[in-house]
Amino acid sequence: MIQPVILCGGKGSRLWPLSRESYPKQFLNIEGKNTLFQETALRANTLGEIASPIVMCNEDLRFLVAEQLLQLGIKGDIILEHEGKNTAPAVAISALLKKEDDPLLLIMPADHIIKDRAAFTESVKKAVKLAEQDYLVTFGIVPDRPETGFGYLHMGSPVGEGYKVLRFEEKPSAEVAVQYCDSGEYFWNSGIFLFRASAFLSELQTFAPDMLTACEKTLADSTHDLDFFRLNPSQFSKCPADSIDYAVMEKTDKCVMVKLDAEWSDLGTWSSLYRANEKDEQGNVLRGDVVASDIQNCYLHSESRLLTAIGLKDIIAIETSDAVFVAHMDEAHNVKKIVESLNIEN
Ligand code: GDD
Ligand code: MG
Repeated sequence: MIQPVILCGGKGSRLWPLSRESYPKQFLNIEGKNTLFQETALRANTLGEIASPIVMCNEDLRFLVAEQLLQLGIKGDIILEHEGKNTAPAVAISALLKKEDDPLLLIMPADHIIKDRAAFTESVKKAVKLAEQDYLVTFGIVPDRPETGFGYLHMGSPVGEGYKVLRFEEKPSAEVAVQYCDSGEYFWNSGIFLFRASAFLSELQTFAPDMLTACEKTLADSTHDLDFFRLNPSQFSKCPADSIDYAVMEKTDKCVMVKLDAEWSDLGTWSSLYRANEKDEQGNVLRGDVVASDIQNCYLHSESRLLTAIGLKDIIAIETSDAVFVAHMDEAHNVKKIVESLNIEN
């Protein structure tokens, strides 16, 4: 049995000012009629025999999550975090919750686009056989640029329908990312994982025992609250924060990968959102009330006012009613710094 775990605790500061702490990007209707979160839940739902999803999210987002699941007619177990501790504790909590049944956990970030759902299903099928042998399976994407915001997988010899991962390196420097891309031997880590709950917990015990203990204590003191399960805030606040990539995947020798060729993208930044969109002949993506001439490779997005531009190249401009963000395409990921420096309650 596959147990989907949908991670949607990201703050959305990388798509500011459109995405806010109170309304992160995975709940935005950026493409088509479903939100990214809903697309993720549907992707899990079409895998065949699966359990109803566990959704790990911030407590402030509980009604948004519940409502968006309800719209799809999907019932989920919604687990509330008082504060984000990054992905490793979120995964640990879901593994501990399901310890007795020990299902295969399919870890799914809620902010990805996967256009080819059939190809995704195929890759998951291949991964199931490996996860059943207690491997920690990642899904590898052929890189098309030296992106430094992703993890890299060094592909080794075949194991089953996947490959051994000789090395997992999270977010390398720009120089190293160029070398990895040129070598042809590296894949991006998609951030989607499949493993047995017990296999993950045993690696966590080895590499981050304090985190495991903190998560166990948190669960011992947590309670149901209406339709939600609320993690005990004072216990969870003592849990060390780390991502699954640094805490476990870089260290374990049980990591294998299955290729994922499904038109995947992580809509983590404005430039990735630009890349995922259809462009006009000059390579522009224009959204909302925008009038522009002589512009090239730009992403211009207006929410509330008329946005006009002349003679721009590689520029991102996002207008909302209370904030405007303008950046060079190559620098747009640094919007996080602006949000931090503003120190505002979004
Ligand atoms: N519940 C919960 N709590 N979810 C969280 C938390 C948290 O504290 N922090 C992050 N998440 C969710 C995010 O909302 C997102 O859906 C997912 O976990 C991954 O977190 P990101 O912050 O988006 O990670 P990343 O994009 O920098 O890096 C990861 O994904 C890349 C591919 O998209 C890594 O796994 C990389 O190795 C990978 O290449
Ligand atoms: Mg991401």
